[in-house]
Amino acid sequence: MKTWRLDAGAQTLVLATGGGVPEAVWWGPALPPDEDLAELAQAARMDRTGGMLDVLAPLTLCPGPGEPWQGQPGLVLAAADGAPLVPRFRFSDAEEDDEALRLVSRAEGLTLIHSFRTEPTGVLVMRTRLESEAPVRMQWLAAPVLPAPQSGDILDFHGRWTREFHPVLTPWTPGIRLRESRTGRSGHEHPPWVLFPHEGARWTQGTVHALHYAWSGGHRSVAEALPDGRRQIQMGHAWGAETEPGTVFETADLIACISVSGLNGIGATFQRDLRDRVVRWPDPARPRPVHYNCWEAVYFRHDLGTLTAIADRAAAIGAERFVLDDGWFGGWVKGRDDDTSSLGDWSVDRRKWPEGLHPLIAHVHGLGMTFGLWVEPEMANPDSDLLRVHPDWVLGPADQATGRNQLVLDLGRAEVRDHLFGVLDALLREYPIDYLKWDHNRLLPVVAAAQTRGTYALLDRLRAAHPGVEIESCASGGGRIDAGILARTQRVWLSDCLDAAERLRMQADAALVLPAAVTGSHVGAATSHTTGRVLPMAFRAWVAASRHFGFEMDLRTLSAEEEAVLRTVTAWFKANRVWTMAGTIHRCDTPDPAVTAEVQVAADGSRFVLFAGVLDTTIQSLPRPLPLAGLEPGARYRVRLANPQDAPPASRGRVALLEGPLTLSGAALMGAGLALPVAWPHTMWVVEGTRL
Ligand code: DGJ
Repeated sequence: MKTWRLDAGAQTLVLATGGGVPEAVWWGPALPPDEDLAELAQAARMDRTGGMLDVLAPLTLCPGPGEPWQGQPGLVLAAADGAPLVPRFRFSDAEEDDEALRLVSRAEGLTLIHSFRTEPTGVLVMRTRLESEAPVRMQWLAAPVLPAPQSGDILDFHGRWTREFHPVLTPWTPGIRLRESRTGRSGHEHPPWVLFPHEGARWTQGTVHALHYAWSGGHRSVAEALPDGRRQIQMGHAWGAETEPGTVFETADLIACISVSGLNGIGATFQRDLRDRVVRWPDPARPRPVHYNCWEAVYFRHDLGTLTAIADRAAAIGAERFVLDDGWFGGWVKGRDDDTSSLGDWSVDRRKWPEGLHPLIAHVHGLGMTFGLWVEPEMANPDSDLLRVHPDWVLGPADQATGRNQLVLDLGRAEVRDHLFGVLDALLREYPIDYLKWDHNRLLPVVAAAQTRGTYALLDRLRAAHPGVEIESCASGGGRIDAGILARTQRVWLSDCLDAAERLRMQADAALVLPAAVTGSHVGAATSHTTGRVLPMAFRAWVAASRHFGFEMDLRTLSAEEEAVLRTVTAWFKANRVWTMAGTIHRCDTPDPAVTAEVQVAADGSRFVLFAGVLDTTIQSLPRPLPLAGLEPGARYRVRLANPQDAPPASRGRVALLEGPLTLSGAALMGAGLALPVAWPHTMWVVEGTRL
């Protein structure tokens, strides 16, 4: 029996083989350093009983082929002519150093490689690669297959346009929980991560396993409870995403994490891993700039006078980057006046911008802001010069349905990528642009990994040519958020919904994966454009200031009072962003369902801010004391309410925090919690804490 061990963060992975494809005999909380791995592997051996085969097939890193395995296989392969292949892999050799392990298994003409890497951020990163001497067809290739915990439930996510990141808790039942995104994006519908909270796990307590598949092109996630009681987890590209025969196939990275400190332990590790390892920042020392985005202010109605007037207001309130959204471009025949035309024609629309974008950019720069631009390079409208000239550049069948009146370009083709690179490169050369909002507003007509590889290649080439430009991944809001796209972008547009009540919930749940620094959040108009809900400025502003902050509305319509509030919150964001954007978000186990609360703790633990959002009225008369999270129990903190002015007239008592700062231990703050003032729905309490 050969064994290997990898430790990262709170987890240990132990792999073993007796001659076949290696198996994970332990994927769980950290084991003592002197654990006897051979004994552990022996101890993992299970019995057999009636009604079973005479051999219990192992749950290997690639279960199935060539074994009497009756669960979902980790590999479905055919010869180039379509004849099924059932290779019987045997373990061949291993390469190992301090941080990485490569396990090689072979069958006739085929090599199966499972690789593992430990990262200082606390995650394990793994991949599967298949090499073949002759071309083969790949239906399904799972990243290294892991055993799921025997306790607890499955926690995955569902979403839709304007209501992203909705957690779904499902009990394990015999059979399969299958989540598959077949839209060619990681998708609103099935974000590519899954958690396994053990019985009793909450935000602040308990054991949780978690996996994130770092791929933007649609994935498949299988959580299967076998008839014998074993549980397996498989993640890989969507079924059939490899459409051509080939000799090398590889999964994306599967990122694994375990927490023994509740869901917050997963959030803390995934946030740190994305921010500090996955995302490549053009200038890591640059504080996250306050955005102004004009989409919900003017939509497609661009004119210099309006936008310079709005830019004046934005700069006066504190914006540092002005983003010109959809509507600035067009072709010979038409300009982009609505969403029916011109995608693909990336020339400045001279009707709207007779002197190009230079006058606007000069104005924006004169106000001390940088300039960002919206693009949607992978798409084209049938009504565009591009598709009139290159109708064959479209991905998928000629008679397909459009989505938002648009088609997708085939980025698997080098000439399409070259064209898009040329267009974007020319824009970035002509104009001083420091940020692109890269949109992707339609579902793909086919599931094709080649499309995703093409998009990655285009982004990589553009980034190499313009390393100072930041890119935001937007796909009708949060339709393409994953560690694959975040290796090439620095911000995600979480949702097209600016309704702060919806956003508060989405942001809180998305923080299981996303750090504040990459999560774009804007203050929208008082009446939400997507829900019609009317919310006060203070609530809208604080919700946005808890992530990468910006404004997106016609700022000329603000009352003096609203503008003053927005200025105050903007100044707060700027004064605190260096540590909040680099800190960790810990969700509070709130005893009141009306309250969604989180504590953002600085990386060095020296300070924190509590954002406690009241979304509803409460059934009891007074707010329940709110236990904080993520603090050091033995440390003492001075805490003060940053916004006592937001207490409504209905707050008639003498909550201590309204009268001045308090000094309390972390244990007290996280135990009994903090008594907050009575609040109207849609109030955000902001409590600042400093460790003494
Ligand atoms: C969808 C995005 O999510 C919006 O913010 C905006 O950029 C529009 N597309 C523009 O068409």
